[in-house]
Amino acid sequence: METITELSLPMKLFSRGKVRDTYELDSRLLMVATDRLSAFDVVFKEGIPLKGAVLTQLSAFWFTKTRKIIRNHLISTNVSDFGSAAQKFSDELSYRSMLVSRAKPVKAECVVRGYLSGSGWKSYQKTGEICGIRLPKGLKESSELPEPIFTPTTKEDVGKHDMNITVQQLAEKIGTDLAKELEEKSLQLYSSAAKYARKRGIIIADTKFEFGMVGDDLILIDEALTPDSSRFWPADGWEPGKPQKSFDKQYVRDYLESIGWNKSPPPPPLPKSIIEGTTKKYVEAYERITGERFPAK
Ligand SMILES: Nc1ncnc2c1ncn2[C@@H]1O[C@H](COP(=O)(O)OP(=O)(O)OP(=O)(O)O)[C@@H](O)[C@H]1O
Ligand SMILES: [Mg+2]
Repeated sequence: METITELSLPMKLFSRGKVRDTYELDSRLLMVATDRLSAFDVVFKEGIPLKGAVLTQLSAFWFTKTRKIIRNHLISTNVSDFGSAAQKFSDELSYRSMLVSRAKPVKAECVVRGYLSGSGWKSYQKTGEICGIRLPKGLKESSELPEPIFTPTTKEDVGKHDMNITVQQLAEKIGTDLAKELEEKSLQLYSSAAKYARKRGIIIADTKFEFGMVGDDLILIDEALTPDSSRFWPADGWEPGKPQKSFDKQYVRDYLESIGWNKSPPPPPLPKSIIEGTTKKYVEAYERITGERFPAK
């Protein structure tokens, strides 16, 4: 499979994120995960072979698995279902693309945390709370929380950081019933996925969901439960009291720290060993979680 960091299909571009390019396909959307890598919010020049395919296949796996909790936007990952204009690009699109129903996105990022890390850990150290939820005293960095918590954020435009809000503030923005439903569905999705992954040696420390409306129905959209939208930790090395090695990007982050990069653009070149190590980790995450060999070697 070719490694792709830039792809421009002759279709109308719907959005271009750090990693994914989304096109309009009649009334639906075609989401293409490229092999771009971002770390510390900077996108690197080099692609990570197989990364886009892993992200798409893992999302598809979870979409299928969580359908009994909530419907989602996935229509197909088979290029043959993508319509005639896409067939010429079958080589580029296979494995990494997903045809989805277009929804009206709910303006919120639905974060669920089962462990204390990242901005949650920072907030806890300052206030003992995250998004207005008071937590017990004495928790350490990477501690497991007494139970998973819903910690929504606003969804800001490119360049601005999303802000933590309380469920009350979310309710004021989008309505009480919808806020309640987002909380319930997010917690159910996280708990079910985290339990499943844990049996396969992976801790999903936290994750972010996005939802959208199709008519009157709330559905799960975007990507779901991937290493890009979640913190995956290897369960065997988990030890509270310090940051954990993330499954996928640890090689890259350790390398960047070791060369003393100042974390602002331009990004430094990545050595081959780091690129290869990162591919291995993405594939390993897929294989551990699904219990299947990664299909596209
Ligand atoms: N089924 C859908 N219908 C409509 N919009 C969707 C659907 N699924 C995802 N989206 C939206 O498409 C956009 C995808 O953007 P993407 O995640 O690639 O980049 P980004 O969020 O702008 O940046 P980042 O790379 O930091 O995630 C998001 O705004 C998301 O809410
Ligand atoms: Mg996004």
